[in-house]
Amino acid sequence: MKFKFYFRKTSFKKDLDSARLLLLEIEKYKPANFLEVGVYQGVTSRNVCETLNKIHKNNFKFIGIDFFEDRNIDLDNKEMTVKHNKLSNPFKHLLFNLILKKDLNSLKSVKGLLKKFGKSVELLKGSSDIQLPKVDLQNIDFVFLDGGHSYETVSNDLKIITSKLKKNKIIICDDYDQVEYGVKRAVDELKEKVSEIINLNDRLVKIVV
Ligand SMILES: C[S@@+](CC[C@H](N)C(=O)[O-])C[C@H]1O[C@@H](n2cnc3c(N)ncnc32)[C@H](O)[C@@H]1O
Repeated sequence: MKFKFYFRKTSFKKDLDSARLLLLEIEKYKPANFLEVGVYQGVTSRNVCETLNKIHKNNFKFIGIDFFEDRNIDLDNKEMTVKHNKLSNPFKHLLFNLILKKDLNSLKSVKGLLKKFGKSVELLKGSSDIQLPKVDLQNIDFVFLDGGHSYETVSNDLKIITSKLKKNKIIICDDYDQVEYGVKRAVDELKEKVSEIINLNDRLVKIVV
């Protein structure tokens, strides 16, 4: 599967190799029930849904959790929520943000991007610590964890997810290599509690529950 950008921003923008690696893992495990924590503008979500749709012919479930808005809750940016939506291409910024006044982070906008998958997609607006317990995690096959990046948030999200996911299910975490975030510490603490932790590359780490 080719990773596409849909005229939006994604954290994979400058790292297509990692984006492709994530899609390859999805093609390998063929999860029917997928959870993304940290949807942002929905670019990875759309690529994941396209991949799942190809594998399962619309017989899949994608759940995405995000605030779906900008929040300056963490000034050192570990939670990845400060203003992201100024598109670097001035033409796209003018068209989408100023002329169309399309808030690309909003729930409405992301719903629009994922509309073609109908009821296969469910988007939950709010903080992961509130939304994760509402998800039937026992049925989830594959998680892409890319929400808040502070140690406290990643650790808490992983605690909720690993306590419910069935054995041998997959969690892939982004930004394991970014020392200023808390992903590495939170993931490394799981070493004795999960089956395997495998570095897919510097950035992506796979946890086999
Ligand atoms: C790095 S971006 C996600 C990028 C996206 N996965 C992609 O590949 O394009 C992080 C997102 O996580 C969301 N986020 C941060 N902390 C969160 C939390 N505690 N609960 C829910 N969403 C959160 C932010 O609003 C932001 O949209």
